[in-house]
Amino acid sequence: MSEETLSNLLHENRRFEPPADLAANANAKADVYDFADSDPLGFWEQAAERLTWDTKWERVLDWDNAPFAKWYVGGKLNAAYNCVDRHVEAGHGDRVAYHWVGEPEDDTRDITYAELKDMVCQAANALTDLGVKTGDRVAIYMPMIPETVVAMLACARLGAPHTVVFGGFSATALRDRVQDCDARVVITSDGGYRRGAAAALKPAVDEALEQCPDVRTVLVVRRTGQDIAWTEGRDVWWHDVVDGASKDHKPEAFDSEHPLYVMYTSGTTGKPKGILHTTGGYLVGTAWTHWAVFDLKDDDIFWTAADIGWVTGHSYIVYGPLANGTTSVMYEGTPDTPHKGRWWEIIQNNKVTLLYCAPTVIRTFMKWGAEIPAKFDLSTLRIIGSVGEPINPEAYIWYRENIGAGRAPVVDTWWQTETGMTMISPLPGVTAGKPGSAMKALPGVSALVVDDEGNAVKPGSGGYLVLTEPWPAMLRTIWGDDERYIDTYWRRFEGKYFAGDGAKLDEDGDIWLLGRVDDVMNVSGHRLSTTEIESALVSHPTVAEAAVVGANDPDTGQAVNAFVILRESALSEGGEAGEDMIAELRNHVSKEIGPIAKPKSILVVSELPKTRSGKIMRRLLRDIAENRQVGDVTTLADSAVMDRIKEGIAAGKEDE
Ligand code: WTA
Repeated sequence: MSEETLSNLLHENRRFEPPADLAANANAKADVYDFADSDPLGFWEQAAERLTWDTKWERVLDWDNAPFAKWYVGGKLNAAYNCVDRHVEAGHGDRVAYHWVGEPEDDTRDITYAELKDMVCQAANALTDLGVKTGDRVAIYMPMIPETVVAMLACARLGAPHTVVFGGFSATALRDRVQDCDARVVITSDGGYRRGAAAALKPAVDEALEQCPDVRTVLVVRRTGQDIAWTEGRDVWWHDVVDGASKDHKPEAFDSEHPLYVMYTSGTTGKPKGILHTTGGYLVGTAWTHWAVFDLKDDDIFWTAADIGWVTGHSYIVYGPLANGTTSVMYEGTPDTPHKGRWWEIIQNNKVTLLYCAPTVIRTFMKWGAEIPAKFDLSTLRIIGSVGEPINPEAYIWYRENIGAGRAPVVDTWWQTETGMTMISPLPGVTAGKPGSAMKALPGVSALVVDDEGNAVKPGSGGYLVLTEPWPAMLRTIWGDDERYIDTYWRRFEGKYFAGDGAKLDEDGDIWLLGRVDDVMNVSGHRLSTTEIESALVSHPTVAEAAVVGANDPDTGQAVNAFVILRESALSEGGEAGEDMIAELRNHVSKEIGPIAKPKSILVVSELPKTRSGKIMRRLLRDIAENRQVGDVTTLADSAVMDRIKEGIAAGKEDE
């Protein structure tokens, strides 16, 4: 990467020291790094003491058959017992596991650990009666309701790996996943509430299963009460078989390496990869990182505002927090229903102390304006986290100032579906945070930035992010495809895990994530990151959100094409976004990064194409920038958005 490119984000020189009281009482202090550096396996053995093992392991790690890892070899445990029963046995049955908040107002449920245990046992007994056995795969296609957690834990209790398919996915996506992991039972609901209305789920299951003849049972939770089609002999109401089932269920201890779940994620090909996570190591990794990164205390109220259908929900709504006996908030709906202050109202009502969400939603809140959160009492918040994409310094600062009251540390956590747990992040009681940097690998994790040859780069340079040592929550393989596992992650750099992300190391040795390497552009021989330019655009006061793509260009190889959403305040003041504004933004990027990064074109749009997990689909924007037919839009949250963007551009051209 060119030095010019790398130096630009480095002129960020703001630093935020941990609050003194947080530092003094932190779960993880600086010495944890020393211990983990000197004895990584000893460190992970100690972390495993957080769990209750039926049989202790004989060996922490077996890496003899790399890249196929075994952690806590010979150990046996039950994941559901660790997440639920043991907290009840320890006298915490009355502690709330979830303050559940439905999208319709006043539709809330508090579920204690004792209640959760009863529900999980009942569901495990019901699934057993429906013929589910250890090793069978169960697909879960649900809204954000407590039964979703219960279903996952009931599967875990039986040793039946679940595959949760995000409720926003289409029937086709569901079908592919059910077929790929050969699930025989599907758990779903009639629907859930989103944007103020009941959104159906069951019809997609019915459609998907037309091509999944091996699925014998569909267990259906009644959530909305809407009309649904019913297949006699296959469909079973949850309340008919679960509510009356026995609350006694003895958990069986499974091998530490027993499969816990498969989570599908998109790769570079069209076929999604089934990422396999196993039991012992995954639970140790998620529980330890949740405890350390959020400095979790007994009286904390934790909220991961993500969907359970993604890995963030698996690791930090379900397994990590429950293994730690945490009280969490779980919210069914969207941030703007019934009003744009809904999240802040939830934080105020539930006295949330720890918040975890994605930069894309933070930028949306920026666009809506700081006066909205300002109306609510957010003073309980102690630590605020970010995950899923690089958080640009502007969004980091806005989050820290307006949500964290300029006091709560921001923990920018880098990880992936594949890593299972957070890998690179500040520790809130130790690290002086820098806006835009995920900082250093956590204790027990080894990350490097390497060049094309796999050699570690010097501070001040960029390259590819790799992980050099196995970690407990790592994926074990791609379901049914060991070769693809090796090819995708372990072939590029001998003996190292290739994450697919570009990164740079600053002069202090801190890591800055630059986005997927497929999002790196090459303009006139200079390598530019989409993230860097987006960050520069968003740092302009009129810009709410920006997406940048590198489109083919006959002169420069690639050219920078930007799509921006302007802030409502900018639009209302000036009305139109005219030529002057575009020129100003181009000059602004030039000033922030350098003339090389100046966008060739900037198009003002009212929305950006995003996947259901909130990632911008740059591929589609590239199609527009290169004047092509827009490609496959099926993974977009809203498949009509591309049409609206094209119409907007065409209307703008006519005006000219
Ligand atoms: C990106 C989400 C920068 C990265 C947990 C990674 C990030 C991909 C960050 C994984 C972060 C995630 N800073 N980039 N803090 N966190 N990413 O599998 O490109 O949905 O490879 O897992 O998101 O996305 P996934």
